[in-house]
Amino acid sequence: MDPIDPTADHVRPAMPDERADVRGMHLANRAAWDEAAERYEAWFDEAVALIASGGTNLLPPERELIGDLRGSCRRAIHLQCAGGRDTLSLWNAGADEVIGVDFSPRMLDLAHRLAAAVGAPARWILADVLDTPTELDGTADLLYTGRGSLMWLQDLDAWAGVLRRLLAPTGRLVIFEGHPAEWLFDVDEDGRWIATDYDYFAGPEASKGWSPEYIDHLSIDDDDQSWKFARAWTLGEIITALLNAGLHLDRVAEHPTDWWGGHADVRPADRGRIPLSFSVLGRLPPA
Ligand SMILES: C[S@@+](CC[C@H](N)C(=O)[O-])C[C@H]1O[C@@H](n2cnc3c(N)ncnc32)[C@H](O)[C@@H]1O
Repeated sequence: MDPIDPTADHVRPAMPDERADVRGMHLANRAAWDEAAERYEAWFDEAVALIASGGTNLLPPERELIGDLRGSCRRAIHLQCAGGRDTLSLWNAGADEVIGVDFSPRMLDLAHRLAAAVGAPARWILADVLDTPTELDGTADLLYTGRGSLMWLQDLDAWAGVLRRLLAPTGRLVIFEGHPAEWLFDVDEDGRWIATDYDYFAGPEASKGWSPEYIDHLSIDDDDQSWKFARAWTLGEIITALLNAGLHLDRVAEHPTDWWGGHADVRPADRGRIPLSFSVLGRLPPA
């Protein structure tokens, strides 16, 4: 099951002219995410309390990959940072400075407010991730992304090229992301895994409406929301894009971790049987 609502009336394959227009799909997504920021606004006080108490929103596999950043990370860059809660979790993990990039003005407004509330040394850059400013090139001691990010991108080669240019010579790339296989499974009323009718190889689909476990209903009716374009990139496409960009991959792993709480209704006996997330640890190749 994916974070859009697969049962909503408004789900259809993207049309050929839409698929051919990467930037057009991203612009539509930007409008949809600005609407969805309403949900993140409701989580603001919780986010302030979490970050102010030195806490983290990162999940155990991410914490293990990222480790203790104190003394080893001058700059952490978080791509598709939303309201900044995960970005500032990197600050709490010890990064001296954090930079978040996102294309939603409303999300970045939240991120600004969150950083101000906790006094964090953060910068927020409003940009499509594909247009991340070149002034950041070669500066990321930690480059982090994931948790529902790749599915919104419609040009993975361009994305992987951005990762490559942002990494500092000794920087680490950490991706922790939803597993594409996740889109193929849902649960029946007894909590047993069943197959969805999602086509793994279909490419982008257009939708309105959000899954109740995540963004749920907004103050704008589903009918009146912006169309958005998402897709499950296959693991092969993701890894190939990273390798083609010239990145060195130290580790690729698959995890049963439910990264967005979309599978809480799986019966205990069936937990852990399906990969729901994956991670990549990478860096620039040795000079
Ligand atoms: C599910 S959130 C990312 C996960 C995040 N860690 C969180 O706290 O939920 C997806 C984010 O990606 C952003 N986004 C989607 N496509 C983007 C693009 N092409 N460029 C920049 N940001 C993008 C959205 O605005 C949204 O804030």
